[in-house]
Amino acid sequence: MTNRKFYVKTWGCQMNEYDSSKIEEILKNTRKYNLTKFPEKADILILNTCSIREKAHEKLFHQLGRWKKLKQNNTNIIIGVGGCVASQEGKSIFKRANYVDFVFGPQTLHRIPEMILSVIKDQKKIIDITFNNKAKFKKKFINYNKKISSFVSIMEGCNKYCSYCVVPYTRGREFSRSIDDILFEIKQLSKNGTREIHLLGQNVNAYSTKNASTNEQHNFSDLLKLVSEINGIDRIRFTTSHPLEFTDDIINMYKNTKKLVNFLHLPIQSGSDKILKKMKRCYTVEQYKNIIRKIRNVRPNIHISSDFIVGFPGETDEDFEKTITVLSEINFDLSFSFIYSPRPGTPAYRLNDNISIDKKKERLYFLQKILNQQALQWSRRMLGTVQNVLVEGPSKNNIMELFGRTENNRIVNFEGDPTMIGKFINIKITDIYAHSLRGTVKNF
Ligand code: SAH
Ligand code: SF4
Ligand code: F3S
Repeated sequence: MTNRKFYVKTWGCQMNEYDSSKIEEILKNTRKYNLTKFPEKADILILNTCSIREKAHEKLFHQLGRWKKLKQNNTNIIIGVGGCVASQEGKSIFKRANYVDFVFGPQTLHRIPEMILSVIKDQKKIIDITFNNKAKFKKKFINYNKKISSFVSIMEGCNKYCSYCVVPYTRGREFSRSIDDILFEIKQLSKNGTREIHLLGQNVNAYSTKNASTNEQHNFSDLLKLVSEINGIDRIRFTTSHPLEFTDDIINMYKNTKKLVNFLHLPIQSGSDKILKKMKRCYTVEQYKNIIRKIRNVRPNIHISSDFIVGFPGETDEDFEKTITVLSEINFDLSFSFIYSPRPGTPAYRLNDNISIDKKKERLYFLQKILNQQALQWSRRMLGTVQNVLVEGPSKNNIMELFGRTENNRIVNFEGDPTMIGKFINIKITDIYAHSLRGTVKNF
C-alpha cells in the first residue's frame, strides 16, 4: 500500500508551532505517512488549535466545516483535532462535528500514530487529552527538514494563573523537561544544520529541574550557559519570560553570553499597578522598570519587546494613560497588543466587563500607533549600519533572493547565493519597511 499523506494546520503560539513540527516528525518517522502542504491531497487532516483569545470555537468549526466537504468526497479521510481548544472542549467536539475521528491534547500528540491506527482498525472515535509531559518529550527531535533556526520547548504548562488566561487550564501545571533531554535535542538539531536555538515555554525563567545523573538542581541561567557551550549553536533566543522570576543570574547572562541575542520579549501587560494586581501578574511597574534598567546596564543597546492587554475590566482612562507613560519610558520594539478577551473558566471572566468595545478599540489603536512608531524608530537607527544576519533560505516574496534575521529579529531580504544559507553574513542595511529590511552583502 502506498504511504498515506497527512496535512497539519496550526494556530497559536510558538509552542504550538513546535508541537506541530513534532507531530510532522513523529508521523514521518513511522514511514507510513508523508507530509503534504495541500489539504485537498491529504488522507489525514490534523488541526492544532489555540484558545488564548475569543472566537477560537467559531474558528475551529469553520475550519472543520471546510474539511467536512473534503470528507464527503472521500469517506476514508481521517480528521484529528488537537491543541488548546481540544484540551478545553474534549469530546464535545465529536458532538458538534461527528465527522472528526480523533481528539488529542497538547501533551498527547506522541500518541497520534497509535490513534490513527485505532481509527482505521476499530472504526471508532478516539480521544486522549490527558496531561502527560514525560511521554510527550520522550521522543526527541532530529530536524529532518534542516531548519536553520529551531524551536525547542524546555517546559510545558503554567502555574501563574493570571486572572485572564486559559493556558494553565489547557496545558496543565508547569513541567520542566530534563536538562539532558534538552541538550541532546539541541545537539541533534545542530548536527542537522540548526545554528540558532529558540527556547520556548510560557515562563522559561521559571525553568527548574534536577539532573537525574548528578542530582544537581539546574535553573534557567544554568541551562542558558550549557546551551551556549554547544558547538555550532551561535545564537540563542527565548520566549516567553515573566518579570516575576527575572532574577539577577539571568540578567548577568546578558553580560557574559555573547550568543544571547540583543533582544528580549518581556510582557508587561499594563502600566497600572491597580490593573496588574487585578490581572494577578505579581509585579509592579517599578519592578518591571527595574529589571529593564539592570539589563540595559549590562547591554545598553538591547531591544525590549512586550505584550499589552487593553480594556481589562476596571481599566480607567487614567490606568490606560499609565500604560502610555511606560511606553515612552521604556521605548519598546516589535511588541504585541490585544483587546482583553473574557475566557470562560478564568477568574476574570466573572468580573464586570464594563468598558465599551468602541473605547477598547480606541485604546488599542492609540497604543498600537505609538508602538509602531517606536519600532520604526529602532529600524531607522539600523539604516546604514552593518548587521550580522543569519541566512535562513530563499526570500518569501522573491525566490531569487535570500532572507535572514538580525539579532533583533528583523527580516532582511538581500541578493546572495545559496551557499550563504545557514551562515552568518554581514549585511549593510539600505532600506527599511514596516515589516522587513533590505540590504547588501558587505563581505563574504
Ligand atoms: N506566558 C506569557 C504569555 C502567554 S499568552 C506571559 O505571561 O507573558 C501571550 C499573550 O496573550 C499574553 O502575554 C497576553 O498579552 C495575551 N493574552 C493572554 N490571555 C488573554 C486574554 N484573555 N485576552 C487578551 N489577551 C490575552
Ligand atoms: Fe497565561 Fe499568565 Fe501563565 Fe502567561 S504567565 S501563560 S499570561 S497564566
Ligand atoms: Fe494558544 Fe495554547 Fe499557545 S492557548 S497561545 S496554543 S499555549
